Amino acid sequence: MLSVPHRNIVKATVPVLEQGGEALTTHFYRILLQDHPEVRPLFNPAHQADGAQPRALAHGLLKVARHIDQLDVLGDLFAVIVNKHVSLQIQPEHYPAVGASLLQAIREVLGPDVATDDVIEAWAATYGLLAGMLTSAEGQAYDTIAAARGGWRGGRAFRVADKRQESAEITSFTFAPVDGAPVMDFTPGQYIGLRLFVDGVEVRRNYSLSATANGRDYRISVKREPGGVVSNHLHDQIRIDDVVHLFPPAGHFTLQGGARPVVLISGGVGITPMLPLMSAALATGREVRFIHCARSAEVHAFRGWVDDHLERHPALSTFYCYERHDGMVAGHNDADDNHAAPPPHAVGRLTQARLADWLPDDRDVDAYVIGPKPFMASVLKDLRALDVPPAQCRYEFFGPAEPL
Ligand SMILES: Cc1cc2nc3c(=O)[nH]c(=O)nc-3n(C[C@H](O)[C@H](O)[C@H](O)COP(=O)(O)OP(=O)(O)OC[C@H]3O[C@@H](n4cnc5c(N)ncnc54)[C@H](O)[C@@H]3O)c2cc1C
Ligand code: HEM
Repeated sequence: MLSVPHRNIVKATVPVLEQGGEALTTHFYRILLQDHPEVRPLFNPAHQADGAQPRALAHGLLKVARHIDQLDVLGDLFAVIVNKHVSLQIQPEHYPAVGASLLQAIREVLGPDVATDDVIEAWAATYGLLAGMLTSAEGQAYDTIAAARGGWRGGRAFRVADKRQESAEITSFTFAPVDGAPVMDFTPGQYIGLRLFVDGVEVRRNYSLSATANGRDYRISVKREPGGVVSNHLHDQIRIDDVVHLFPPAGHFTLQGGARPVVLISGGVGITPMLPLMSAALATGREVRFIHCARSAEVHAFRGWVDDHLERHPALSTFYCYERHDGMVAGHNDADDNHAAPPPHAVGRLTQARLADWLPDDRDVDAYVIGPKPFMASVLKDLRALDVPPAQCRYEFFGPAEPL
């Protein structure tokens, strides 16, 4: 617990963080990544370049400063951070470098008039408190994962057991552990950390698990990102029997209990966690509305797999919305011919009116949303306008969390 004077000083910095939080965290990452090369592989440079990670941290620090008297109301924020840290294997020994860089950034960005000794001392105490909370929660998670059947600690070697093209731009990879031992179950909706070397440089990325847990292997499905380091390496270089290292599953974008109908709304590669979520919801007998938006049939992955469930599960309904539809799909492999694509349920964007048609009449549903940020912002706004209770709308970012 922080002292009252420290809490008052931190609260007094809220206006400064509101105005200049992003400049502060951008400078912080510059210092951290320049002075501590050992932490560079943990971070995705793209999230620095587009500002998403500095924005996520600035947003997090602002929330902390605003709620410094009752940090326990920030449960969701801590869950996001702890899960992300665990999936990338952040360890207690990383914390001092981050703390020192943060305090240096506060001094340098705010200047001596604002960043007085008292302010630095209050933020040092706050950082110590946060670091203690995070390392303790992360340590517990690492211990629980290591003790689980099929669990492990750190990176574990997996070989590529299968590589399969799912659409013009999404390819699935199935990873089986090199040691042949079982792999731990995961909760549908969770993701893994992947570590590999591209041109001799270590990189880490997160990927949602796209097939239900089976105790033997994990499947991820990766969209080729133009200019993307890891996705292109996976698509172009990684072959069957190549070895990568995986960090165990983490994440809290998971199915809430209860009997409410489940509405899964994805855009593009956001479909990946929806597949195990759909199976889990159907297995408990819940009604499922599977709504997926894609640019076209060519990039719509897993349509056949999802539609195969329709006959066996009357509680499932599917709705597809393509931005454009010309009726044909090019074959993914040399052996495949171009073929006619089944039509979507709508052409154009997912409008509020379409969403209204595709939701159950009773809006007491659990909704799950993943896709590009503007897509998520628009869908969440529409769900709210259509009377789906905000507390029942869950979403996840395929990158650092940001205010929508
Ligand atoms: C929880 C979670 C789950 C995820 N699940 C999935 C999933 O199931 N499937 C999936 O495909 N993805 C998923 N992702 C996204 C994934 O982690 C990667 O971000 C994605 O594959 C892109 O990585 P990349 O290395 O190919 O691209 P990056 O190298 O990260 O590049 C991304 C973009 O930034 C640009 N860029 C890169 N470096 C720089 C730079 N230095 N300066 C300027 N621009 C730059 C690139 O040109 C590219 O356009 C998930 C992410 C999270 C957080
Ligand atoms: C009190 C200390 C810390 C706080 C408050 C904090 C906060 C955050 C936040 C808000 C995110 C974004 C989460 C998301 O939305 O995905 C994040 C991600 C991350 N954090 Fe921390 N963090 C702390 C310490 C550390 C430390 C010590 C490290 C290790 C060097 C670290 C490494 C990372 C990495 C690698 C990511 C993901 C970055 C990416 O996606 O590129 N963090 N952290």
